[in-house]
Amino acid sequence: MTLLLTDKDHAMLRGDHGAAKKMAMSIVARMAEVSNAKELLHITGAHIDSTVYVGDAGLEFAERLANLGAKVSVPTTLNVSGLDEHHWQEWAVPSEWARQAHRQMIAYQSMGTIPTWTCAPYQTEMKPSFGQQIAWGESNAIVFANSVLGARTERYPDLFDICCAITGRAPAIGLHLTENRAGQILFRLINIPRQLQQSKDFYPVLGNLIGKLSLDKTPVIGGMTIIPDEDQLKAFGAGTSSSGSVALFHMVGVTPEAPTLEEAFHGNAPIEIIDVTMDMLRESRRQLTHTGSNELHLVVLGCPHFSLAEFKRLASLVKDKRKHPDVKFLVTSSRAMTQLAQKVGFLESLDAFGTQITVDTCILTSPMLPPEIKILMTNSAKFAYYSPGLLSKKIAFGSLEDCVNSAVAGRVIRDESLWTI
Ligand code: F3S
Repeated sequence: MTLLLTDKDHAMLRGDHGAAKKMAMSIVARMAEVSNAKELLHITGAHIDSTVYVGDAGLEFAERLANLGAKVSVPTTLNVSGLDEHHWQEWAVPSEWARQAHRQMIAYQSMGTIPTWTCAPYQTEMKPSFGQQIAWGESNAIVFANSVLGARTERYPDLFDICCAITGRAPAIGLHLTENRAGQILFRLINIPRQLQQSKDFYPVLGNLIGKLSLDKTPVIGGMTIIPDEDQLKAFGAGTSSSGSVALFHMVGVTPEAPTLEEAFHGNAPIEIIDVTMDMLRESRRQLTHTGSNELHLVVLGCPHFSLAEFKRLASLVKDKRKHPDVKFLVTSSRAMTQLAQKVGFLESLDAFGTQITVDTCILTSPMLPPEIKILMTNSAKFAYYSPGLLSKKIAFGSLEDCVNSAVAGRVIRDESLWTI
């Protein structure tokens, strides 16, 4: 298929708008050709995941663009980096690694981006709106933007996201187009108690299950008896895009493109119908725990990055409590959210409890954990899914309450009551 380019696209390709735009447009146009796109579309926002330092190639790419004078053409937020710029020395980050990761941060900032350094840009003032065409990287951000906000992005890979931001263009393919946003698999919740649906830990567990069964298809979830809040949907989406590669889900009566079951499927029949039972959920929850003992070294929260509402909830849970001296208690969030939490007084009880807060990054994108930390506990499906493979750590999954109670006791404690109904 021949790719149709505008006069301005051609001008960028020729180098009329400078060497950086020429390089970025040559990559965008080539990717569009191999994806069989008919044309490019205009985007009005971008979120860059290439900010994570994973080695010399990514750094070289960023610095090459920066040295060519690259500037983004649309409002562009930055995902996490490989470094908590001001507190990395408190952890086990090697100094040479920190130096390289910091160079990468500087390169991306020099391009006129907004240094949000967060994987939850949808909880900042840069949240996109319904129908907005955007080019976002970072799987949890992509699935939230598409599903919960009704914005439109493909699952953009690292390095390509910044090329879209520089040119303001993206291939007109995939989830940018209405016809590709129909639901494909129907998941029916069968006799799932309302009390469990109201809990926070239901969503990462359900997300882990739906992601595994959907892979790259678009799931539609029917049978919800409550309207989940933003953080519950965030935890669900992060689960689906970790165990699977879900980039869009519909929740009937909850998400904006699914007011009814029929609208979620664009009037088509589902290709598959799967009934979700309590047994399947219990198995999904069991799979998120990768340790048989109750030994515990670190509780880690904030994947995706902690919101203000989550800080508030944690502040009330840890009030007048103190963590066990042998267990570390870590929250990862953005600078902006942490400053806000400080301003409204949520950090006082966290400090007294013995919480450490890391901003700009997280345990999966920065080599911050020392070798003596071997067993973790989290309330995040994403941390639970990736930590054993990426960090070679054992991990236990539990609710936020379980995480706090375990940090106090110094060993893994989990309340099973909601899951044995
Ligand atoms: Fe964010 Fe790190 Fe989780 S980037 S989504 S906190 S793995």
